[in-house]
Amino acid sequence: MIGKRALLATVTVAVAGALAAGTAVSMAPSASAGTTLRAAAAEKGRYFGAAVATGKFSNSTYLTILNREFNSLVAENEMKWDATEPQRGVFNYSGGDRIVNHARANGMTVRGHALLWHAQQPRWAEGLSGTDLRNAAINHVTQVATHFRGQIHSWDVVNEAFADGGSGGRRDSNLQRTGNDWIEAAFRAARNADPAAKLCYNDYNTDGINAKSTGIYNMVRDFKARGVPIDCVGFQSHLGTTLASDYQANLQRFADLGVDVQITELDVMQGGNQANIYAAVTRACMNVTRCTGITVWGVRDCDSWRGSDNALLFDCNGNKKPAYDTTLNALNAGPGITPPPNPTTPPPNPTTPPPNPTTPPPGTGGCTATVTLNSWTGGFVAAIRVTAGTNGTTGWTVTTTLPNGATVTNTWSATASANTGTIRFTNVSYNGRLNPGQTTEFGFQGNGTATGMTPTCTAN
Ligand code: G3I
Repeated sequence: MIGKRALLATVTVAVAGALAAGTAVSMAPSASAGTTLRAAAAEKGRYFGAAVATGKFSNSTYLTILNREFNSLVAENEMKWDATEPQRGVFNYSGGDRIVNHARANGMTVRGHALLWHAQQPRWAEGLSGTDLRNAAINHVTQVATHFRGQIHSWDVVNEAFADGGSGGRRDSNLQRTGNDWIEAAFRAARNADPAAKLCYNDYNTDGINAKSTGIYNMVRDFKARGVPIDCVGFQSHLGTTLASDYQANLQRFADLGVDVQITELDVMQGGNQANIYAAVTRACMNVTRCTGITVWGVRDCDSWRGSDNALLFDCNGNKKPAYDTTLNALNAGPGITPPPNPTTPPPNPTTPPPNPTTPPPGTGGCTATVTLNSWTGGFVAAIRVTAGTNGTTGWTVTTTLPNGATVTNTWSATASANTGTIRFTNVSYNGRLNPGQTTEFGFQGNGTATGMTPTCTAN
C-alpha cells in the first residue's frame, strides 16, 4: 500500500513532470475550450468514457463526476458472459440495461464489453469444448448483441485472444481450441445481430509496435482482406510508469488498415509520470484521425481494479488529480475530426456489408424473404430478412428446407414448426404487422450445414 507521504511525493513529482511536458500542459485554454472531459472531447468529435459498476450509482460523489465528465459508459463487469448468461440459455441483462438506460438519460453512448473472452466465463461454459462450446459461444454473441441491438456504439466482440510474449500468436483457451476461425465466426454473428454497432477486437500489452500488437495487426489485415466484418481495434492501455515511444505510430498503423482505433481501458500507475503519460496517450489519440475516443477504466482511484496504484483521474474524495488537468488540456489542444458523432445516434457503420445482391425486388402483395448465413465447421447462424410487399402484412410465414443432417437448436424473433427438414417460421406478436416495403428480421442457429436454403415468404 502507498503511504500518505509517498503518495504526496509521487503527486508532486507528477505535477513537476507534467509542467515540464510542454505545450499540452502549459497551454492556456482557448475561448471555446471544453471545461469537462466530455465537452472537450465532444468539441473534437470524440467521446471520453469511463468503466462503471451499477452498484456505485447510488454514491453521489461517483455519480456527480460520472455525469459531469463522461459521455460514454462501459460496464466494468456487467455485460460479460458470466454476468449475462449465468446458466446456459438463461440471460440476465439487468446490469447492462441499467447502464444503457443511464447512458441514454444522460446523452452518453455505450461501449459493449465483452461478448467473448477466455476469462469471466460462466462455469457451465468453462466445462464445454468443441462444437458444443462453439455453438454456445456463437449463440451467446447472437443473443446478447440482439438484446442490445441499436444501443451500443462499439462492441468488444472478442477480448484478449492473443498471447503475451514474443510469439505473436493466439492465446491458448477453450475458445481457441474450437478452431482458429472462432474470432471471425464471432464477428460475423455480431454483425448479423446488430448491424449498426462498430465491432472491435480489444487487447492489452499492445501499447507500441511489438510482437503481440503485430500478431493482432496481421489478423486485422487478413480480416479486412477477406471481408470479415471488423470496424475497430481497442487498445486497453493499462500502463505503468513509462509509455512506448511508438504508441501513436502503433495506433496509426492500425488506422491505416481501415479500422477505427479506441483507447478502451486507460489507467496509469501513479508514479512520477502519471500526468505526463495521460497527456501523451490523449495527444496520441487526438493526432490519429481514426482514434474516435478514450475510456478510462473507472472513475476514482478507489473504484479501480488496480487498488493502490491510484491509477485514475480522480482521487477517492472525488478531487481532480494533476492527470485530469493534463488530459483536459491535451483534449483541448488536439485537432478535431468532423463531423462529430451524434452522442445518441451511432454513425452509420462504414463497413456494413452491401445489401445482398440476390435480394429480390419488393414483391407485389405478399412478402419476400432473404437469408444471410454465417457458417463454421459443424454449425451456422441464419439471419432471415422479411420484406412486406405492396399490401403490407398482418402476419407472415417463412418456409425453408434445411439440408439433410442440419438441425435448428435455437430460434429468435419467430416461432419454428420443427427443427429439421422443411420448417415454417411464423412471426411473433411484435413483428407480424409490416407496412408496405417494411422489413423485419429473425434468426436461428443450428448444427450441421445450411448452405443453399431458399426461403419463401407468405403473408396473411
Ligand atoms: O461481485 C463479486 C462479489 O459478489 C464477490 O463477493 C467477490 C469475491 O471475490 O467477487 C466479486 O466479483 C469480482 C468482480 O470483479 C466485481 O468486483 C470478481 O471476483 C473479480 O474477478 C472481478 O474483477 C474484474 C476483472 O476484470 C476480472 O477479470 C475487475 O473488476 C475488472 O476491472 C477487470 O476488467 C478487465 C477487463 O474486463 C479486460 N481487461 C483487463 C481488465 C482489468 O483486469
